[in-house]
Amino acid sequence: MSEKTPFHQLEVDISSILAAHQDYRTIIEHVQPLLQQLLKNDDLLPADLQVPLPTKYAQYLLYKPADEAFSVIAFIWGAGQVAPVHDHLVWGLVGIYRGSVVEKRYRREDHGESAEPRYTIREVAEVTATQGDISFVYPPDYDIHGVANPFDEVAITIHIYGTDIGKQPRHIHDVTSGNSRDVITKHDNSSPVYR
Ligand SMILES: [Fe+2]
Repeated sequence: MSEKTPFHQLEVDISSILAAHQDYRTIIEHVQPLLQQLLKNDDLLPADLQVPLPTKYAQYLLYKPADEAFSVIAFIWGAGQVAPVHDHLVWGLVGIYRGSVVEKRYRREDHGESAEPRYTIREVAEVTATQGDISFVYPPDYDIHGVANPFDEVAITIHIYGTDIGKQPRHIHDVTSGNSRDVITKHDNSSPVYR
């Protein structure tokens, strides 16, 4: 898989974006056309990785540079599979490669240190995203969402995050209670698809 990988140029391009910008929104705007190009690559994913896992969505690391300044992940969503409401604590983009997913976006309203519950997680939008669409997340205000594939067809999404998201400590939120729990979502492959 090392020949003609699209990720070496991507690393050059994202490295120069990160050298020039710190603002998450600005980084996302510059990375978006790079993800758009990846979504047009019909040979991005080996066929065996495009098959959903039986019990949960699959999370495969495609590529990360040695300094882990970003990572590119493929998520495979079988019919009916869901990611609970979660944050990222880093900038990220979500592109639809195959099929469609429904993304619910949330805002966290902070009630202060002593309040019970401390936060309210309020749904602010629900979007059905289809092939070629790109959305984004970044803290603190645009960081919480839930993703689901309620359709009969398998969906594949390609994500770029500003760190190795498979090691990132973050949270799953209970929208009803306002409580959250710590989580690290590890990749389902032990080594990246591309090197
Ligand atoms: Fe997410």
